Amino acid sequence: MSNGSGYGSDMSGNINGHLVITGMMGSGKSTVGPKLAAVLSRPFYDLDDEIVSTTGMAIPEIFERYGEQVFRKWELEKLDYMLSRPVPQVLALGGGTLADERAFALLRGHCVIWLEGSTEELWQRVRSSGRPLVQRGLEAFRRMHEERRTAYTKAATFQFDCSQEPDVIVRMIVQTLGADGDE
Ligand code: S3P
Repeated sequence: MSNGSGYGSDMSGNINGHLVITGMMGSGKSTVGPKLAAVLSRPFYDLDDEIVSTTGMAIPEIFERYGEQVFRKWELEKLDYMLSRPVPQVLALGGGTLADERAFALLRGHCVIWLEGSTEELWQRVRSSGRPLVQRGLEAFRRMHEERRTAYTKAATFQFDCSQEPDVIVRMIVQTLGADGDE
């Protein structure tokens, strides 16, 4: 997989807007995100963490008590709120945030970075993590990854190979964006 490959998506990513990181569970969004934010001197937010702090519940608890549909509704509302904030940030999405079509309209005009890897490697990273959707097993995870590739492809401005070291990924992102860290 080539790195920093541009996606001629209709989202026309603008690096002066928010930098949004997407990709499957285990792709390293929450590791790469804060490092990228530090290099670019931007604040970092993780959408899951924002939902947890607003609701006072851990993600597995939300799934257990309210179900996935309610989680998706809260996730979309939180995405809308985060992207409406004026200060350019680095925002890591959840792996399923783009499962809802309405997310695309919210992302328009922002730069979307997709961290992608093989299903097997992603699975190895998350299989023991306790994430609710991992409980369904490898075959369900594989199907989810296949289905979501369409959404990630549609949203992504750039794609990077997540099998590399986080610091290497950050360096490649910064190079690709043409940002020197002193924005
Ligand atoms: C989910 C991914 C999780 C979290 C929730 C659902 C998904 O976030 O939002 O468990 O549907 O892929 P991460 O991608 O940060 O693990």
